[in-house]
Amino acid sequence: MERTLAIIKPDAVSAKHTGNIIDIIENNDFNIVRMYKTKLSKDQAERFYGVHKGKPFFQELVDMMTSGPIIVLALEKDGAIKAWRELMGDTNPANAAPGTIRNLYGVSIGSNATHGSDAPATAAQELAFFFPDL
Ligand code: CMP
Repeated sequence: MERTLAIIKPDAVSAKHTGNIIDIIENNDFNIVRMYKTKLSKDQAERFYGVHKGKPFFQELVDMMTSGPIIVLALEKDGAIKAWRELMGDTNPANAAPGTIRNLYGVSIGSNATHGSDAPATAAQELAFFFPDL
């Protein structure tokens, strides 16, 4: 089975959507392999999102991801990477299909409730970042 990294972002945690999002994850047959709550330092957020360094929204992204606690999850399912991205919906909540997590709980492109790895190589990298023992 494939694994992917999911993050419930500060906007969704502070709005108390954690339970609802975990319900959606389990109702869609993902196994939660590992999960914990943490708060990213500026250095951690800059390293995690290093691929976006230099983009106009980088500072906003780092500020948002360090604004409060997050929940990180290692999810497992056949085709987990694509399945989790489909369940999250479009990056911009305004374009996210009805019923997707970002449609339900996203506020803006920056505060879009959840993160998910976009490919096998990034999933391996992102899982190792938060779950070095996996
Ligand atoms: P995420 O899946 O966590 O990966 C990178 C994040 O950058 C993305 O979700 C968005 O929250 C954020 N992002 C992408 N484009 C923009 C933008 N134009 N303005 C602010 N944030 C953005």
